[in-house]
Formats: sequence, structure tokens, C-alpha cells
Amino acid sequence: MKALILAGGFATRLRPLSCARPKILFPVLNKPLLEWTLESLSKSGIEEAILAVNHQTAFHIKNSKFSKGKMKIAYSYDPPKKPLGTGGAIKNAEELLGNDNFLVVNGDIFTSINYAEVIKRHEGNDATATIVLCTVKDPSRYGVAELGYNSRIKRFVEKPQPGESPSNLINAGIYVLSHEIFRYIQYGRRVSLEREVFPKLAEEGKLFGYIFDGLWTDIGKAEDYLEINKILLDSLRGKLKNVIRGGGQINEPVFCDESITIKEGSTIGPYAVLGKNVNVGRNVYIKNSIIFPGVLISDDSFINGAIIGENVVVGRGVKINGNCVIGDCAVIGNNVSLAEGVSICPAKEIYQDVLEAKCII
Ligand code: GDD
Ligand code: MG
Repeated sequence: MKALILAGGFATRLRPLSCARPKILFPVLNKPLLEWTLESLSKSGIEEAILAVNHQTAFHIKNSKFSKGKMKIAYSYDPPKKPLGTGGAIKNAEELLGNDNFLVVNGDIFTSINYAEVIKRHEGNDATATIVLCTVKDPSRYGVAELGYNSRIKRFVEKPQPGESPSNLINAGIYVLSHEIFRYIQYGRRVSLEREVFPKLAEEGKLFGYIFDGLWTDIGKAEDYLEINKILLDSLRGKLKNVIRGGGQINEPVFCDESITIKEGSTIGPYAVLGKNVNVGRNVYIKNSIIFPGVLISDDSFINGAIIGENVVVGRGVKINGNCVIGDCAVIGNNVSLAEGVSICPAKEIYQDVLEAKCII
């Protein structure tokens, strides 16, 4: 069976970090999400993945050094400047997908699911689509399903208004689809699978659910992206070997690339992930944060709950607080404080405190 990975969205909620890379390339414990997904598909017996991309995402993916393992990779392109939506992107890949059932995965999902189990379940039902369902507290950001008898979905509502959700069972963005699905999607048009196709299939009794209660996150929001790294750090507590050159103290759980250097008096962790060639000065404190490759953090700085993009330069005595997102190559000058929730656009230079949550462009 082939898998289609949807990767042509615009990731607006992860800007400014997503200006320089699509969500599918965001590092999770220093490894691109795409690699985690391919490894997991491979374990479920999938040998070929088709990436449904736009020209921008394709450019980044092809220039990145992700490892595809044994997986055969093909690309299916949305037309320039004409995003096809989730349904349109599936229709666009019809020829590449062939005549068999296939798997579809939203490219911004991190999960521990065994795809083979979902495939097996789909084959046992008379379903056009079997969708994986997870339980969440607030379903309003997701597609929501109302389950009926024998795993049939009676109703599907995409992003219901708060309080109007038919249940807490949400669409996890993982589907097994039968070839028949193509009859429901018009070619060459922007089509939302979730808004236009799933509600119709539910009405016709051809939409089935598979409940999954393992690890699952959509990394599309900064908080969720930080959270999944945190969950993985917890699950690997005690098993992570951090080889640190220089001095400094590690408060587990922490995951550092082996190339990093940390000077004396600095404390890393708990819950910090430091990428390749990160350079940490003296008396620095970093916790609950993700530091992308090539970042320089100068002496006496404090970072808590932030995501710091590639090649950022953090000056001396800087304070970066919760939910700050710093775009690639930005420079934060000496002694600058950034309040909670500040985002800084790529390559921006900041020499004054930012005292309230806002995006500096
Ligand atoms: N090729 C292509 N073209 N891919 C697209 C397009 C498009 O026009 N639009 C979105 N995608 C890809 C995105 O890159 C992402 O991997 C996936 O489709 C889902 O898009 P998101 O923008 O992340 O949607 P969402 O998170 O708001 O909602 C979707 O995922 C939820 C689960 O996380 C829906 O499927 C919801 O029903 C679901 O609950
Ligand atoms: Mg998403």
C-alpha cells in the first residue's frame, strides 16, 4: 500500500519559524518530523510515500537532508499559487496512487500509531474512508465525528463553534481511503476533504472511525510543538546520553546534539532540546525550550519556554520568556528582555526590550 503525505499547507500558526521551513521539516528531538513519519510508515509495511506539496515546500524538502530510509518517495505538486486543499491534493495524486486502497497522513502530525492496524480495520468494513479518531478536551480546532453503531460515523463537522461540537472525538488526520473516494472529488479544483467530502460520506454510511488513544499531536501551534518534544523527553528519561563539550550542568530530561558546546556555570534543562552546533556561553539558563541548529547564546542569558530558530544570535544578559518564537538568523542584542508571547521575524535585529506579546516584523 502507498501513503500520501499532505504537506502543502502554509503553516500560518507557526510563523515566523515556518517562513523558512514547512511544518513537515520541523525538528522533533532534533530529527525532522518527516523522518519520524517515514520511519513509522515503514514499520507498518508501507514502501512508497507520495508527498503532496506546493513548489515552496518541495524546494525546502528537497534541499533538506532528511533520511528516507528504505522508503521510495514521489512528489505530487499543487499548481503554482493555487493550493488544492486536502481533497484536491488527493485527487491530484490519483495516477500516482494507482488502483488500490491507500493511506493519507497529514504531514504535521506526530503519533505513535501502528498504521497497519488501521489498514486492517478498513479492509474489514464496507468503508470508503476509515479515519483515525482521538479524544481531546477542546475539539473546536479540529474535525469532529459523531460515532454511531459499529464504528460508523453518523456526522462529521469540521472546526465546530465552541460548545457546538457533537463529541470530543476528533479527526486525527490519518485515513485509509478506498479508490472510490476519487468519485467524490472534482479534478483541478480546491476541495476540502473535511468540509466537502467527509460529511457526504457520513450521510451515505460510508465513513468509519478507528479510535486511537496513544500518542498523537498536531504540531501546528507553538505550544503543541513544545509539548510533543516535552512528552518525548519524558518518555526517554534516563535513556538519553548527552555528551557535552565544555562545562555546564544538565538537568534531565534534556536532548543535545553531540556537537554543542556549553561553558561553565550554565544550566540546561529540564526539558531542553539543543540542535547541531549550538554554542552556549557562561552562566546561561535554558529550560522548556527548543533551540534550533547554529544558535549562539551569550553569557548570562535566560531562556524559558521559547523556540529559537536556526542561526539566531542571542546577546549577553538576554531574557526570553514563555512562548516566544524567534525566527531564523534574528539577533537579540545585549540585555534585551522579551516578554511572554513575543515573536520575532527572521533576520530581525532587536536592541530594545519588548514588553508585551506581539510580533516584531
Ligand atoms: N498539498 C496540499 N495542498 N496540502 C495541504 C493543503 C493544500 O492546499 N492544505 C493543507 N495541506 C496539508 C497541510 O500541510 C497539513 O499537513 C495537512 O494538510 C492539514 O492541514 P492543516 O492546515 O494543518 O489543517 P488543520 O490542522 O487545521 O486541520 C486538519 O487536521 C486536524 C488534525 O490535526 C483537519 O484534517 C482536521 O479535520 C483535523 O482534525
Ligand atoms: Mg494541522
